[in-house]
Amino acid sequence: MTEVKGKVAIIGAGAVGSTTAFALMNSGVVNEIVLVDIDHEKAEGEAMDLRHGATFVKPTTVRAGTYDDVNDADVVIITAGVSQKPGETRLELLERNTAVFKDMVPRITDGLDDDAILLVVTNPVDVLSYVTWKVSGLPSERVIGSGTVLDTARFRHVLAENCGVAEKNIHAYVVGEHGDSEVPVWSAVHLAGTQFDDFCVRCSKECDLGQKDAIDERVRGAAYEIIDKKGATYYAVSLATQQIVESIIRNENSIMTVSTLMNGHYGVDDVYLSLPAIVNRGGIRQTIELDMDDDEREAFRDSAKILKDQIAQLDI
Ligand code: 2OP
Repeated sequence: MTEVKGKVAIIGAGAVGSTTAFALMNSGVVNEIVLVDIDHEKAEGEAMDLRHGATFVKPTTVRAGTYDDVNDADVVIITAGVSQKPGETRLELLERNTAVFKDMVPRITDGLDDDAILLVVTNPVDVLSYVTWKVSGLPSERVIGSGTVLDTARFRHVLAENCGVAEKNIHAYVVGEHGDSEVPVWSAVHLAGTQFDDFCVRCSKECDLGQKDAIDERVRGAAYEIIDKKGATYYAVSLATQQIVESIIRNENSIMTVSTLMNGHYGVDDVYLSLPAIVNRGGIRQTIELDMDDDEREAFRDSAKILKDQIAQLDI
C-alpha cells in the first residue's frame, strides 16, 4: 500500500482554496497543508490566519509555499484559475483557464511523487480535469475532479428537507456534468432500502412530492442562486473536497460522484464526468455504472456530448 504522509497541497488560496484548508484543518486528517498562490502574500496571510487556530484543532502545519513544496504531497488540490469577465462566454473562460492549466500542471507534476493524486476543483471542473489528465500524462486513476459530489449533496439535502429524513439516510446520486446538463438519478434514490416512489407511498409526511422537476430545478439552480445572493460558493464545495481528500488519505473506499475518465461507461469514452466511483489511496479504484432508466441514460450521454464538444474546441 502506498505510503501516507498526511500532506496536502492546495493550489489557489482564494475562497475555495482557503476554505478547503480550513475544513481540512478541522477534520484532523492531515498533518501538513501547503498553500500555493501566484499572490504569495495572500497565501501567507491565509496560512497565518489558519495557524492562529492551532489551539483549537489537532496538530496541523499550515504554511504558504511554492511548487517545490508540492512534490511530496499525498494530494494536490487545484482550485486556481481565472474567473469569468463581464460579457465573457463560458467557452472563452474555458480557453483562458485551459491556458492557465497548461502552464500550471507541468509545474505541479515536475518532481511530484509517483503516488500523488491530483484533485481538480476549478470550474468548469469536468473539462479542466480532462485537461489536467492530458497535460500531466498521469494515469487517469490519479487525476480526479470534484465533479458532482456537491450536486449529489445538494440533492440529498433538498430531499431531506422534503421527506423529513436525515441526509445521511438518503442514497441518491447526481451524475454527468457538474453544471447545467447534470442528471439527478431518480430511479436510484433509496430511503430505508426502498425506492423513492415506493417510499413516498408509505411515508406519513404531507408534502408536494411528485414535484420532481421542482426539486431538480432547486438542485441545478443552487449555485446560480447563491452566486446571485453572495457572489460565490465555497463552504459546501470545500466540505465536499475535504471528504474526497479524507477518502484518499484514509484509504476509505468511499463511493462518491467524482469526475473520472469515462472508458466505455454507457458507451461514453474519452471525457471526464461524474458517476459513482470508489475512492481510495490509489485515487479511483473503480467507476460504477448505476442502474438508470432509459431517459436518464440518454440524459447522461447528452451531458457527455456537451463536454466532448467543449473539449474538441480546445488546443490541448
Ligand atoms: C457550485 O456548484 C459554482 O461549482 C460551484 O457551487
